[in-house]
Amino acid sequence: MAGRIPQHFIDELLNRIDIVDLIDSRVPLRKAGRDFQARCPFHEEKSPSFTVSQTKQFYHCFGCGAHGSAISFLMEYDHLDFIEAIKELADKAGIALPSTEEEHTHKAVDKDLYGVMEEACNFYRQQLRSHADGPKAVEYLKGRGLTGQIANDFGIGFAPPGWDSLLKTAGGSRQREAQLATTGMAITKEDGRHYDRFRNRIMFPIRDRRGRIIAFGGRVIDNNDTPKYLNSPESPLFHKGKELYGLYEARQAQRQIDRLLVVEGYMDVVALAQHGICYAVATLGTALTTDHIAPLYRTTQEVVFCFDGDRAGRDAAWKALDIMLPELNEGRTARFMFLADGEDPDTLVRKVGQEAFELEVKNAVPLSTFLLDNLLQQVDMGAIDGRARLVELVRPKLAKISNAVFRHMLINALATRIHINAQELLQLLGEKSAPVNQTKRPRQQQHNIESRKLSPIRTAITLLLNHPSLAQSAGDPQRYLQLAEPGIRLLVELLELALNNPHINCGTILERWRDRPEGKHLSKLASAPVYHTTDEGLEMEFHDTLRLLDRQRVEQEHERLRRKSETGPLSQEEKRKFTQLLSEKHALAQPSNNR
Ligand code: UTP
Ligand code: MN
Repeated sequence: MAGRIPQHFIDELLNRIDIVDLIDSRVPLRKAGRDFQARCPFHEEKSPSFTVSQTKQFYHCFGCGAHGSAISFLMEYDHLDFIEAIKELADKAGIALPSTEEEHTHKAVDKDLYGVMEEACNFYRQQLRSHADGPKAVEYLKGRGLTGQIANDFGIGFAPPGWDSLLKTAGGSRQREAQLATTGMAITKEDGRHYDRFRNRIMFPIRDRRGRIIAFGGRVIDNNDTPKYLNSPESPLFHKGKELYGLYEARQAQRQIDRLLVVEGYMDVVALAQHGICYAVATLGTALTTDHIAPLYRTTQEVVFCFDGDRAGRDAAWKALDIMLPELNEGRTARFMFLADGEDPDTLVRKVGQEAFELEVKNAVPLSTFLLDNLLQQVDMGAIDGRARLVELVRPKLAKISNAVFRHMLINALATRIHINAQELLQLLGEKSAPVNQTKRPRQQQHNIESRKLSPIRTAITLLLNHPSLAQSAGDPQRYLQLAEPGIRLLVELLELALNNPHINCGTILERWRDRPEGKHLSKLASAPVYHTTDEGLEMEFHDTLRLLDRQRVEQEHERLRRKSETGPLSQEEKRKFTQLLSEKHALAQPSNNR
């Protein structure tokens, strides 16, 4: 993903942004020594352990370990993806995004269109209060149990009857009318003139994850009118298979979202919020699609899908399951909740209230249980070919799962359910046994390395991340490439990067490694505490560390040549090298003089 935005642009962007301003605008910061502090926005805490460094352009929480650059902060705090975070920062910095592949294929969105939608929303809200038919709409909303507060939180409004109410207010010019048509707020007639799409309806604005209005849903007030709900058509702003109604509002209501509940309708989302359940979102008149999954799990690890209890609801759940299987892993959970026939979340929560409703949410069945229940129902396990039939049914479902751990949890669960051991089931499925352990092993190894004391290379990297300018006095980085030590290539690359970019900071460096496997290690090291209070102390430690590496390098090389000399004569060049190493060794043995 990151590849689509050129590195120099990201560098430039991070150069223009100050992470302290950025974070302070969302989480007020207090100066503490050289750094800034606050109570961590990513976990519950009483005393502040969230630290933002202006020099490093990096944040780190000593409590929960959250850390990263300005880009990471926006991704985590605003739940944006990488590209969205870049866009947000570019907007803030007032610089234009370089044209990406995406913008070559799709035309760039006319920024004004968001303004048009905002204006329409304001108009509808104002009509709810001031139009002659406004009271009828207000009565309708009250009749459905909504207070003015919730209507306000969701920006609910009223599109008055008449063919050109919005056009008269927001039209104005030809360009404006064209924009209303582009967003689907106005419909173009054959003669090129326009009329309002939404008339005499309760209006629900649909916001994207950045809070911008991209579409509307409009509900009739009189149940005899059709269609019951009218939605904005697809437009440059709105791709309905990707959006979730209520996600932005949920994030506004709660900083930390532990769980999302996916429901069907606008009214369900709003009614649940009215009853204190502020974590419901709705797909927009479509079934769940793969595009919905990423935004859901970027917000939380636990998603509960709510379905009608009837046949259609079960079918919808079965379809959702197929969409979920490739997306699940051992961290993400998906559960299914089925309502009684004829009930929807709106009617149910109004009947039983928040507590009882949330109890049902808590009791929702795990996706794996739903899957196994269903498969087992389809097979007569008493029959001779029962097992074979089951295996055939399970196989295509397993094939959709890419995560090895989740896959094995499922196989184990199934084995338990049909009372055979997992190995036997794996054989029936024709799978190799037990890769579960393999996927776990690297993590444990990593942990061991991490808990060891910092090696010289790690120390050097840590110091360099904290003060990239140290590289200026490090000599030629290339010399270390001879060192056969893990991490040496990373150190050399880092030294060269810092050498060639004298003003680079920690946050910018880390962004360069965002998509590389070493990135995780680097950001861990960037968070490691550095104990020096003075610049001299730091510099001394850095040079002592490099000296240590130089000694290792000279030792290794010296030893290599010595061994070689035992098997045969050294070349002229090797002899010269040998002498040079000896004198280097001698120099390095002298007390440090901070070259
Ligand atoms: P429902 O018909 O279940 O309506 O549609 P609802 O949400 O319970 O509505 P109320 O309670 O009668 O007000 C569920 C969702 O399907 C889409 C809408 O997104 C709606 O919220 N839908 C429904 C349409 O797009 N068009 C329609 O005509 C009906
Ligand atoms: Mn309903």
